Amino acid sequence: MRETEFEFIRGLVYQHSRINLGPDKRELVSARLGKRLRATNLTTVSDYCRFLKSQSDGDELAHLIDAISTNHTFFFREIQHFDFLSKTALPEMSVRARQERWPQFNVWSAASSSGEEPYSIAMLLDEELGTTWPWHVEATDISNRILDKARAGIYREETVNKLDAKRVKRHFQLGHGPQAGNYRIKSALQAHLTFQHLNLLEGPPPFDHLFHVIFCRNVMIYFDRPTQEELVQKLSRQIVPGGYLFVGHSESLTGIKHSLQTVRPAIYRRPLNS
Ligand SMILES: C[S@@+](CC[C@H](N)C(=O)[O-])C[C@H]1O[C@@H](n2cnc3c(N)ncnc32)[C@H](O)[C@@H]1O
Repeated sequence: MRETEFEFIRGLVYQHSRINLGPDKRELVSARLGKRLRATNLTTVSDYCRFLKSQSDGDELAHLIDAISTNHTFFFREIQHFDFLSKTALPEMSVRARQERWPQFNVWSAASSSGEEPYSIAMLLDEELGTTWPWHVEATDISNRILDKARAGIYREETVNKLDAKRVKRHFQLGHGPQAGNYRIKSALQAHLTFQHLNLLEGPPPFDHLFHVIFCRNVMIYFDRPTQEELVQKLSRQIVPGGYLFVGHSESLTGIKHSLQTVRPAIYRRPLNS
């Protein structure tokens, strides 16, 4: 791939997703473009760049961002957040819910990828809250392809079998016939989740309520500092006073201007009186 082609792709991806592809990502971009060349039946990157320029509906651009972004995730990733949720945030919020008459406990998984993160949150809420307090998990991501996978809620047996057996029995159904070797999330759990497409960096979040906890993990790492700052400020406004923001453990907010209190590494809280 020529320097000018890399710069063109890099600019386009930044403009539409703010994913910041540094010069060290040239190899990665080149490898991921291979997939798009095959899918579009084009032979050179130069043809592909021309194709992108000629498209007015942005369809291929969405595929390009899909191919470039990394969707790696797994169930109960960064377990400290789930421990904190069950041992600290939920007991605290349950007391406030009674005092302040909150109708529902709301969690947002803001870069939900293929669903392992929001379903992990949902499993924990089902186990801890059951039907004592209504709860809901909003899951959003920029990639439509990955959202389709998340909505389907189908995962390989070997992935699911890493979870505690009681948890698997409670929340998953084993597939048969063409679905042999797969597990599916039970529909009773799925009923507590909504999946929708959302570019975190485009406009205000489309919610008319605040969240008690926001998970925004392992996505900010792709953005530059000013973009991270803008995003953290946007997310902070979407949290109830006293509610929490969880970021990935490699995504400290040090050096970013924000109004949150640091609770623990990768756990931040909107001040109660804000
Ligand atoms: C590495 S995954 C993280 C998944 C999960 N949060 C976790 O920690 O396991 C990053 C996700 O961020 C999504 N993403 C990248 N840029 C985004 C943007 N601007 N808005 C929303 N989602 C974005 C990608 O599509 C991808 O699914």
